[in-house]
Amino acid sequence: MTNRKVEINYTEYADIEELDPKDQALIKAARQAQLTSYAPYSHFNVGAAVLLENGEIVKGSNQENAASPSGLCAERTAMFAAGAQYPGVPMVCIAIVGGPAFGVCDTPATPCGACRQVMAEYQKIGKRPMSVIMTGGKSIWKFEKVEDVLPFIFDSI
Ligand code: THU
Repeated sequence: MTNRKVEINYTEYADIEELDPKDQALIKAARQAQLTSYAPYSHFNVGAAVLLENGEIVKGSNQENAASPSGLCAERTAMFAAGAQYPGVPMVCIAIVGGPAFGVCDTPATPCGACRQVMAEYQKIGKRPMSVIMTGGKSIWKFEKVEDVLPFIFDSI
C-alpha cells in the first residue's frame, strides 16, 4: 500500500490591480456577464468570460429554468458559446464571478464539477493550458491549468 499526495497550485491576489492587464480585462468581462444572469430561482448570479487564443472574449451567465435541470451554469454557457462561435480556437483562460443578488461573495465563487469537466475537454482539444480565475470581493485565485481545479480528469481516449 502506498499513500500518495496530489499537489494543487494557485496564486491568491488581494486586489484586481495585482493581476496582469489581460486578466483584469477578463474579470471585468465576467462581471459584465454576471449582470445578464437569469437566476430567479436561486438568486445566485454568476458571470464567466473566456479568452480565446485569437484575442476574442466570449461571455456567459447562468440561465435558470422552471424545470431546473434545463438551466445551465455561467461557465458552460460561456464555453459552449465560444466553442460554437469559434470552433477549434483554443481557450486560454476563463474568469468567473458570482454572488447572491448580483453581488460578489468575499470568497471566490468556485465552478461546479460539471463545468470543470467541460474545461478539461476544451483544454485537451486546445492543446494548451487553460487557466482559471475565480474572483471574490476580498481575494482572487488564479489556477494555471485545469488539472489544478480538477485532479484525475476523466478521459475516455
Ligand atoms: N452556478 C453557476 O453558474 N456556476 C457554477 O459553477 C456553480 C453554480 C449557478 C447555477 C445556478 O443557476 C446557481 O448558480 C445556483 O446554483
